[in-house]
Amino acid sequence: MTETRSNPTESSRELISRDHAKVGGAIYRYTDIAFERGEGAYLYDFEGEKYLDFVAGIATMNVGHCHPKVVEAICGQARTLIHGASHVGYMRPYVDLLDAVLSVAPGELADGKGIFMNSGSEAVETGIKLARYVTNRSMIIAFTDAFHGRSMGALAMTSSDELYRRRLTPLLGGVHHVPYPYCYRCPLKHDSPETCGLACLNLVEKALQTVVPPEELAGILVEPIAGEGGYIVPPDGFLQGLRAICDRHGALLITDEVQTGLGRTGKMFAVEHWGVVPDVTCLAKPLGGGLPLGAMLAKCELVDAWPPAAQGSTFGGNPVACRAGLATLRIVQDEDLMSHAVQVGDYIQDRFREVQKELPIIGDVRGKGLMVAVELVNSDGSPARDVIKSLIKEMGARGLVLTKCGASSIRIAPPLIITREQADFGVDVITEVLRRHQW
Ligand SMILES: Cc1ncc(COP(=O)(O)O)c(C=O)c1O
Repeated sequence: MTETRSNPTESSRELISRDHAKVGGAIYRYTDIAFERGEGAYLYDFEGEKYLDFVAGIATMNVGHCHPKVVEAICGQARTLIHGASHVGYMRPYVDLLDAVLSVAPGELADGKGIFMNSGSEAVETGIKLARYVTNRSMIIAFTDAFHGRSMGALAMTSSDELYRRRLTPLLGGVHHVPYPYCYRCPLKHDSPETCGLACLNLVEKALQTVVPPEELAGILVEPIAGEGGYIVPPDGFLQGLRAICDRHGALLITDEVQTGLGRTGKMFAVEHWGVVPDVTCLAKPLGGGLPLGAMLAKCELVDAWPPAAQGSTFGGNPVACRAGLATLRIVQDEDLMSHAVQVGDYIQDRFREVQKELPIIGDVRGKGLMVAVELVNSDGSPARDVIKSLIKEMGARGLVLTKCGASSIRIAPPLIITREQADFGVDVITEVLRRHQW
């Protein structure tokens, strides 16, 4: 293997102390592990210790680390053209990836068009800008428990944690949040998912009668499954209901599929689980195969209404990132990784439901495909906020890389190539640690 370390004798501990001396403390680490290299579903530290990656660089490395075909695509493109800038000329990788992604998009979006940016936040902001421009309306309805990014525009829609916006307000105006149907902790205290979903839809309608004049509504922005907010799967009927409300009021339905898109939930786009076609959708994370890339896709007539130079980015659609993304997408398709994600994801959920019978610290198990949350609770049922981070660190020390989502959920989003045996290892480590901390 090629030596990539600047100082090959540096230990993990030494790197971590150098990092603490130079890197801003706002960057929080869920584990105490220094990553030296990755291969498939595993990460390795500087001492060669192996860790199973149960979170894939935050739902990003869908085909695992350093997949040979992705590495080959990156190296091949790097030898040909590293950067050209989409405002300066035309580049084949840009069109090839956009074409490939659009061809698997649902409904009319497949005949749509797109624009590349560099990140999820930018993809969302591009969608919001487009919605405001084409509707000539300013207001956006978004949801509680939402994460759409941390840049100042996207942050106005993000609502999963007050910490992200503390001392940063006022943000972009015209954004109104309504409750997301988090059925395990129903915001409206309903006891069945069906009525909860409908009640949340009623609150959207109510907002349109009270604080958001319908003729000023540019769009409704929603994650088909709330990601950072806790891997919350909405009840059937919710997304369809939002589609109908948008249609009724001439507003756009904008879906944020940054975390759910491109195979993780068992469909290319999570909206397909509910047969909904948005007007605009946003992608990032796995889109660039591990390199920074975001995209906004929209129906053709919407994108065409935006005049030249109204949106852009120096690096957006970088050819190396596009080639890495294209190689990744092909592997997901050729190896049928979406069916695999459903099989292994269901298996993981089944195993945790068994464990839940003996460990009441597990309040809820939910998800779709390889987007699984295990929500930890205190004995009074409240979120186990105080212990979640230390438990995740302890799991890391036992060889399992994880993060949290929501207030107190273990976020499981491994590479889609994960085997059943690897999944067993992950579930066993989590179970062992939870058993020691059971109240
Ligand atoms: C659903 C969703 N939207 C947007 C973002 C922001 O993406 P980025 O961190 O690439 O800006 C994220 C990141 O976690 C996300 O999960």
